[in-house]
Amino acid sequence: MWGKKARAWRRELSWNRKGPGNMRGDGMDSLFSQRVKRARRSVIRELLKLAEEPGIISFAGGIPDPETFPREALAQLAADEILNNYRKSLQYTTTEGKRPLRAALIRWFSQQGLHYELDQVVITSASQQGLDLVAKTFLDPGDAVFLSLPTYLGAIQAFRAMEGELVGIPLLEDGMDLDALEEAIPRARKAGHPPKLIYVVPDFQNPSGVTWSLEKRRRLVEIASRENLVIVEDMPYRSLRFSGTPVPPVAELDEEGRVLVLFTFSKVLAAGLRLGALAGPKRLVEKVVVMKQAADLCTSSLTQRLAARFLLEHDFSQHIQNLCHRYREKRDAMLEALEQYMPEVEGLSWTRPEGGLFLWLRLPEHVDTERMLPRALKHKVAYVIGTPFFVDGSGHNTMRLSFSLPTVEEIREGVRRLGQVLEEELASLPSPQRG
Ligand SMILES: Cc1ncc(COP(=O)(O)O)c(C=O)c1O
Repeated sequence: MWGKKARAWRRELSWNRKGPGNMRGDGMDSLFSQRVKRARRSVIRELLKLAEEPGIISFAGGIPDPETFPREALAQLAADEILNNYRKSLQYTTTEGKRPLRAALIRWFSQQGLHYELDQVVITSASQQGLDLVAKTFLDPGDAVFLSLPTYLGAIQAFRAMEGELVGIPLLEDGMDLDALEEAIPRARKAGHPPKLIYVVPDFQNPSGVTWSLEKRRRLVEIASRENLVIVEDMPYRSLRFSGTPVPPVAELDEEGRVLVLFTFSKVLAAGLRLGALAGPKRLVEKVVVMKQAADLCTSSLTQRLAARFLLEHDFSQHIQNLCHRYREKRDAMLEALEQYMPEVEGLSWTRPEGGLFLWLRLPEHVDTERMLPRALKHKVAYVIGTPFFVDGSGHNTMRLSFSLPTVEEIREGVRRLGQVLEEELASLPSPQRG
């Protein structure tokens, strides 16, 4: 049954659906831009549909736990804003965003060691819009963007949409392989791909959970300076640290003003508010604002007012501590269950993140996590296959596990099932060839 579903999903992805509605538009395909013709729907979103079947314990969805959203506080603020402050909350606002929210964010940034003025911060419709605007601001077709293998899928989509040349650099336990980055930059230049951006998620990266060391952050800034590149530092998980010591953001180490920071409320307040911010040197932020004017004029005034008031009237630090407490329990449950239930086999390893929502499994070379997925679904457990996070098509033996949504009990049971799935898969495969 699951084999059939997986095949149906593959068919869906091939963009060949014919139906009464689609037939009429056949002659219009030539009207699409080359960019759209090349674009593909997110494989992961399609896979997530399979994981939604009843009874499945899903480690697939990378979304925050809805129980962490401060519903009552937001409901009260929303009622007050709509009834009593509608002239502001239901009206357009400036493209840069509401001043009280930017001011509140400047205070949050300064707690991270980042010091900005008002005109260095623009409110975005969450960090995905930040990525889209950065791509539009810097990329001409064929310009090189350096990112890690693996990388957040939404960033890959945003940079691809602007026809960037995506250059994958291996991600090691303590951050990107910077020797490889130093070799790749002149190689891209020589091949006619002007290097423009380096995209990084240095804290508890999605999908791997990896956090960059201080040494690598410093060296990254040196490389960007030497090669005249902009660094995009995406930090959706930075506040979600459950253990270990915080490492300064890359932007704090930058003295030349070549780092753009992306912040989001999605994981620390509510993803549905679609609210975030982009901050950095004024001369770069100004250009991003022009791109945002064309995109949406402004981010929702109502959600900006809600977030600003939440930050002013509630204890945001306490709220974040509560989140960390909840997610820490889940992460610990997943790490313990992996120790207990995963078979002892050569080539199997996983990350031990100090925060965030994800951990990352590397399986023996001869295991293909996409091929194994129907078996996992049969055992009623779901994960996200690794390959979509790799711009070079590698990662067939990797998977992402998210611990944010399931309960602690579900995490234990789900990992037990996953251990069984892997054992069965290994037993079904011919032994790997040894060189
Ligand atoms: C690394 C990273 N960047 C950006 C985003 C986009 O999130 P949002 O647009 O909700 O801020 C995500 C979402 O999962 C993410 O993991």
